[in-house]
Amino acid sequence: MTRAAQWALVTGAPRRGGEAICKELHRRGLGVIVHHSRAGSAPDAARLVDLLNASRPGSALAWAADFTARELPALPALPQPDASISVLVCNASLYRPSDLHDHAVRDADLQVHLLSHATLIERLRGGLRALVGVTDIHVHVPHRGHLWYHVSKAALESLILTLSVELAPATRCNVVAPGALPWPADNHLEAERIREVQQTIPLGRTGSFEELGQVVTWLALDASYVNGSVVPLDGGRSRWMR
Ligand SMILES: NC(=O)c1ccc[n+]([C@@H]2O[C@H](COP(=O)([O-])OP(=O)(O)OC[C@H]3O[C@@H](n4cnc5c(N)ncnc54)[C@H](OP(=O)(O)O)[C@@H]3O)[C@@H](O)[C@H]2O)c1
Repeated sequence: MTRAAQWALVTGAPRRGGEAICKELHRRGLGVIVHHSRAGSAPDAARLVDLLNASRPGSALAWAADFTARELPALPALPQPDASISVLVCNASLYRPSDLHDHAVRDADLQVHLLSHATLIERLRGGLRALVGVTDIHVHVPHRGHLWYHVSKAALESLILTLSVELAPATRCNVVAPGALPWPADNHLEAERIREVQQTIPLGRTGSFEELGQVVTWLALDASYVNGSVVPLDGGRSRWMR
């Protein structure tokens, strides 16, 4: 199959890390489905789709789906008759504080990080060549206060690593575990904590979304003998965490 007939579905894609992943996969010749969840993020998704289609007509589509819902809508039809989705990037994410008793956060985090992605994998498994999950280095060394985020991202990681055995050799399944990337504007981390984190990164800086896009794309398209791996994208922080 030509690259032009191959599509990637990137979840949580209208801006930030998801946008960078879409741009890099698209730059390498794939068509891209830009998933977004909220009506509020539709303009960002439409802007990205227009940008990608301007450089290669018929190469990008938007797909709206709130992953907290138990039923996911149908995926959009691809424009080329021979096209299929060969890459799935499980990037959609919720990052909210929680404790054991926060049942609403528990249910939403498990639904968004684990169950909706499992549903998508099930739908696409026949045609997938590469599956890439985006988790977090704190899946392995949790910090306090985000219990259900860590548990549900760990469950996504476990699903993808298990599938690296179940779906092989047709599909390579890998995980990128970022450390500190740019924080969201509404981030609840205190300035003091952000300074502390930055002082524990051997490379001396936070990562960029472009670097996330590069590593995801490398795993999806280039790393032909890498399967069942977790690649930390953290400037060495997980070797030096305090
Ligand atoms: N930023 C960091 O420092 C950092 C650190 C470690 C790991 N990571 C991981 O790296 C990836 C990229 O990070 P990021 O900062 O770009 O992520 P982000 O901005 O927190 O969120 C990614 C996307 O998740 C989607 N999402 C939220 N709620 C959803 C729902 N109910 N249903 C479906 N999608 C939903 C959002 O789409 P809408 O806008 O349409 O709602 C959003 O664009 C994420 O997987 C994140 O967990 C990031």
